[in-house]
Amino acid sequence: TQASSSGLRTPIVAVLGHVDHGKTSLLDKIRGSAVIEGEAGAITQHIGATAVPLDTVSRVAGSLVDPTDFDLPGLLFIDTPGHHSFTTLRSRGGALADIAVLVIDVTDGFQPQTIEAIKILQDSSTPFVVAANKIDTVPGWNPREDSPVQGTYDAQSDRARSRLDERLYELIGELSDHGFSADLYWRVQDFQKNVGVVPVSAMTGEGIPDLLTVLMGLSQRYMKEAMAIDVEGPGAGTVLEVKDEKGFGATVDVVLYDGTIREDETIVVGGTNEPIVTDVRALLQPRPLAEIRAESRFDRVEEVSAAAGLKIAAPDLEAAMAGAPVRVVRDREIDDVIREVEAE
Ligand code: GTP
Ligand code: MG
Repeated sequence: TQASSSGLRTPIVAVLGHVDHGKTSLLDKIRGSAVIEGEAGAITQHIGATAVPLDTVSRVAGSLVDPTDFDLPGLLFIDTPGHHSFTTLRSRGGALADIAVLVIDVTDGFQPQTIEAIKILQDSSTPFVVAANKIDTVPGWNPREDSPVQGTYDAQSDRARSRLDERLYELIGELSDHGFSADLYWRVQDFQKNVGVVPVSAMTGEGIPDLLTVLMGLSQRYMKEAMAIDVEGPGAGTVLEVKDEKGFGATVDVVLYDGTIREDETIVVGGTNEPIVTDVRALLQPRPLAEIRAESRFDRVEEVSAAAGLKIAAPDLEAAMAGAPVRVVRDREIDDVIREVEAE
């Protein structure tokens, strides 16, 4: 899931949107697992990271994607909670992201956390696409499981199709009210100037092939320079959560967005009082397609390269802080790295 042979790193994709608009369900559909059932009250309380390798992307996207068109290793999705009390988690996810998916329930439309998410994306200049979700709830909808949008759209009655059109145009209007020129994704020529809207259903899988195709295209076309980082350099990441893990004590769940981290390396982690300097005892990684939150067993690995979600076990992490930076020292002066962590 990490660096491809071409040295490009996995793009980080944040999934943002109002509560219950279907962020976790969309990822779930892509993963084919059922994380949602394990969630307390079905509210996402934590940011999770899910690596989707290129072969899975192209299997789901089917005929829409030719994997030989892409030299990115896949996509790393960060799920965020929509509940209003989780603003910090949302902005943390948004700030980490290379690109984003803004999930909007087509029936519910724009809601407070939709608008908040748009502001986060605007402030961080993160390119995004809109997943207009729950198209299967349009009255009279005739679902075609896992079909690309065009096929399912053509299969609808005139009435169902025009009901969907109405809702999509309402969304496009609201996006425009918030300063974004948007259109249905197949009409968008330049995804940096215009926001593409992809009609989807996390329930039936309709439109998911299109969503993945657009995300791959967006990463490939506009993020390529940013992706071609030195994946061999000293690792840099952000703490998502501090957690006690049986047998390891306090650990940190991290999204690594740059470079490489290895077992036994010295790292500096932002703490509640001061930066923590410690040595990596173990690097624990969920398997591709596994969900970091739901996994109780991790693979122990010697080395991880960006972008990836991983758990770091090391002494003294009790005082680590969610949202704080993590830096591998490697051959740099330790004081310089401490200053870098303090400056963030
Ligand atoms: P938070 O994490 O709490 O912000 O919510 P979320 O955006 O992750 O929403 P979640 O995926 O938990 O879905 C909320 C509810 O909507 C669940 O009951 C889902 O089954 C339902 N749902 C999600 N997507 C669809 C869809 O495409 N169609 C239909 N009919 N229901 C959906
Ligand atoms: Mg969720």
